[in-house]
Amino acid sequence: MKSFNEIIQLISSEIDQINWSKEPHKLYEPIGYVLSMGGKRIRPALTLMACNLFQDNVQPAVNAALGLEIFHNFSLLHDDIMDRAEVRRGKPTVHKKWDDNTAILTGDVMQIAAYQFIAKTPIQYLKPVLDLFSQTATEICEGQQYDVDFERRENVKEEDYLEMIRLKTAVLLGCALKIGAWIGDATDEDAQLLYDFGINIGLAFQLKDDLLDVYGDETTFGKKIGGDILCNKKTLLLIHALRLAKGNEALELQKWIGTSDKNLSKDKIQAITSLYNRLGIKTICEDKMRYFYTKAIANLEKVSVSGNKKQELRNLADKLMFRND
Ligand code: IPE
Ligand code: IPE
Ligand code: MG
Ligand code: MG
Ligand code: MG
Repeated sequence: MKSFNEIIQLISSEIDQINWSKEPHKLYEPIGYVLSMGGKRIRPALTLMACNLFQDNVQPAVNAALGLEIFHNFSLLHDDIMDRAEVRRGKPTVHKKWDDNTAILTGDVMQIAAYQFIAKTPIQYLKPVLDLFSQTATEICEGQQYDVDFERRENVKEEDYLEMIRLKTAVLLGCALKIGAWIGDATDEDAQLLYDFGINIGLAFQLKDDLLDVYGDETTFGKKIGGDILCNKKTLLLIHALRLAKGNEALELQKWIGTSDKNLSKDKIQAITSLYNRLGIKTICEDKMRYFYTKAIANLEKVSVSGNKKQELRNLADKLMFRND
């Protein structure tokens, strides 16, 4: 069994070995830039950890794991254009450091590279792996479209939000785990339990991301605090604030949602955060996060391998809930 740290080291050294110094320079340079900044690399870690539950040799799952990390990073390039985000992992985003066209085209070529890595999966697993990956990639686009649509929609319900984050975030974690399980020759039942674990931990993970977007520390989180507030993202925080705010507070909230003046950005973030605080929104979202975390752990416990083998995944799930980055 490999520890989480060993898995992360393995992924890092594999990523470092990929050569992106190709021409045209402006197309490939941002890939090295974004991948060298690290990030948590949880998706490839989940693939290798799932594989490792069922067999010692994780090597056959490495290319798929790398493909998923490259895909994830591609999605961030486009996401940062869509979310008008200027900082990621403590550094300027690709569209900010270069320009939108660079982030679009480099993103495109990264998506192709992701497929190329995944296609190196041993042939006996390849068909289902590619099918699941293609389905997942499509679902992420669907989730991203809902996310953007919801910025301008007023009547977004909790269930709409949960479906949106299932699509944009959770399915990739589920996919990472299921692919790893398949390559480890797990039974379909165990592979599905790990997928469900990924979905529930993914929902909790995005809830945590949304909480950190308001309550995180900019330096540790590596992204600008308040980005979701400025975009009027219908996070669970805002959905519940819209539900609970009455009278003057409801008017104030509506006024700020209608404010897009860049000079008032700081005031908007401060005012909406203060409304969240007065309405007790943080606890509501933390409770929801814990609810999905608990469901995730229940899925993991049902996987038919000995309890101690699952400890690294339990620890990772914990870490993702208590993280500040
Ligand atoms: C960011 O993902 C996008 C979300 C789904 C919230 P991560 O928080 O995994 O980003 P990195 O890769 O660690 O930077
Ligand atoms: C991102 O969600 C999901 C995908 C990139 C598909 P967010 O927009 O919340 O992620 P961050 O906060 O920019 O990392
Ligand atoms: Mg987004
Ligand atoms: Mg974003
Ligand atoms: Mg976010």
